[in-house]
Amino acid sequence: MAINLFVDVLIVSLERIILFKGCVCDSGWSGVSCDVDIDECKDYQMTCNEPNTRCLNTPGNATCACNVGYRRNSTSGLCEGMRVL
Ligand SMILES: *[C@@H]1O[C@H](CO)[C@@H](O)[C@H](O)[C@H]1NC(C)=O
Ligand SMILES: *[C@@H]1O[C@H](CO)[C@@H](O)[C@H](O)[C@H]1NC(C)=O
Repeated sequence: MAINLFVDVLIVSLERIILFKGCVCDSGWSGVSCDVDIDECKDYQMTCNEPNTRCLNTPGNATCACNVGYRRNSTSGLCEGMRVL
């Protein structure tokens, strides 16, 4: 049956693609050797909703950091403008 042959070829092709890819990287990493850091700020929906924060890419992950001129208040946990006394 031609259709069965077609399906067999398709399955073999898919197996080749999966074998060629070799490994599944930990999240946050890509590349053949899983040594390419994914920029989560650019490639994913990582958004920083807190005021005065921006997404900062880190190796294998990303975090929200205070904008320049702002510091995290350890009491409130919010990024606040540095006050000039
Ligand atoms: C990345 O960081 C977030 C927030 O700190 C954390 O919840 C998550 O588990 C981390 N992901 C990885 C892969 O380390
Ligand atoms: C940190 O936040 C607390 C509570 O909102 C506030 O009382 C305090 O003045 C803040 N500290 C600084 C250094 O801004």
